[in-house]
Amino acid sequence: MTRLTTTHPATATHAAAATTPLTFPTGFLWGSATAAYQIEGAVAEGGRTPSIWDTYAHTPGRVSNGDTGDVAVDHYHRFRADVALMARLGLTSYRFSVSWSRITPQVTADGLGPVNAEGLAFYSDLVDELLAVGITPAVTLYHWDLPQALEDTGGWTARATAERFGEYAGVVAAALGDRVRLFITLNEPWCTAYLGYASGVHAPGRTEDAAALAAVHHLNLAHGLGAAAVRAAVPDARISISLNLVWVRPETDAAPDVDAARRVDGLQNRVFLDPLLRGSYPADVLADTAAVTDWGFVRPGDLATIAAGGVDVLGVNYYSPTVVRHWTRERPKEYADGHGDGAASPWIACEDVEFPFRPGRKTDMGWGIDPRGMTELLVRMAHEHPGLELLVTENGAAFPDVVGPDGRVADPDRREYLRTHIAAVHAAITAGAPVVGYCVWSLLDNFEWAWGYGKRFGIVHVDYATQERTVKDSALFYADVIRANAVQP
Ligand code: NOJ
Repeated sequence: MTRLTTTHPATATHAAAATTPLTFPTGFLWGSATAAYQIEGAVAEGGRTPSIWDTYAHTPGRVSNGDTGDVAVDHYHRFRADVALMARLGLTSYRFSVSWSRITPQVTADGLGPVNAEGLAFYSDLVDELLAVGITPAVTLYHWDLPQALEDTGGWTARATAERFGEYAGVVAAALGDRVRLFITLNEPWCTAYLGYASGVHAPGRTEDAAALAAVHHLNLAHGLGAAAVRAAVPDARISISLNLVWVRPETDAAPDVDAARRVDGLQNRVFLDPLLRGSYPADVLADTAAVTDWGFVRPGDLATIAAGGVDVLGVNYYSPTVVRHWTRERPKEYADGHGDGAASPWIACEDVEFPFRPGRKTDMGWGIDPRGMTELLVRMAHEHPGLELLVTENGAAFPDVVGPDGRVADPDRREYLRTHIAAVHAAITAGAPVVGYCVWSLLDNFEWAWGYGKRFGIVHVDYATQERTVKDSALFYADVIRANAVQP
């Protein structure tokens, strides 16, 4: 059962204290975001075959508490009720991802294999359900769940994976493109490449720097090939990619700190943005990583393919700011980015870069809270790429929520996080950034990758034993924002 009240006392008090609201442009999209492996469950139903996250989660020691996505929040069976819940909250957009293993379950490096009609039907029905209640779908084609058979032949280190992705993107676009306009090729390729292949804290769990850089390139190439396939199938499609961009700040203006920031900016932002928007890899990143790889996997024509794919709207995922400084070996290294001092780091050629601990409030992930970073990031994108539309494809926070004795989930920290970050988006728009929408991560509590179910990001609480959904106070707050198309400063 779902509880939803519209006149929550906390919301009413907040409204009474209102000052002049920050109003968003007409038609601004208000959404929430999810991903297939994190919510669907039903991993062995509908013809689906295993992905790398099935393998990884079932490998002892990889995911906290031994959690897996086998059942997740059972969205595969409950999607109609979940869409009804979105409608009651007033969402105007919903970003979800397609599980590649449902669409072409027999894919190998040599070819896609047959298309699975049952897999396509699930997403087609979901799209129909959304449109019936006036919610605009945004489809992410890849949110980290690579078919295991492709990992067995090299995964993202292999060019064939990018080629198969392009074909798969065309299949999905052809099936949904009569009703879906916005296709997001990849979600956070930074995580796929560096967490999957360098630090190994995500599937497939490899720890080879050269492999991670090959993955970077093949993900970029996959974007280009996928964008071309989507445009061929759906000429008026809008293409996007969701990047976890960071506004990297050096701790001081001293040259070594500034250089540390340059390296992190290169590996996290520019190695994805530059090929896409400028048609080249950043020279400093190639130089910094020359001892790891000669980038020989970049073939003639690849950069043209990536740039031709381009983007119509850039997806920005923002959670937390990043502050870096030069590390001198006189003291133990600090790892405020949460990646620890294990043998493998996601930061290639960054041995002298440190992520210092910062004072201030943190979410349950230990991530610092600073909405200014979001404004600064969006304004920087607008400044560096004039005219490029921006869409916040993810923003949100984990807190340890519980259902109270009165059946309410009081989550004032998340509500405040959302209020201040939505206000930060407004500030960016006021400063000239063409931001067209905002998606909360996430609609529902779900499988938070290596953290399992221990971290709750939802604006809707899920009782994992019963699958009961309970709207949190933050969802009621968000519903008010959507209704007003405005947020209190
Ligand atoms: C980024 C990812 O896209 C999403 O899958 C994840 O759950 C959130 N951030 C929170 O970590």
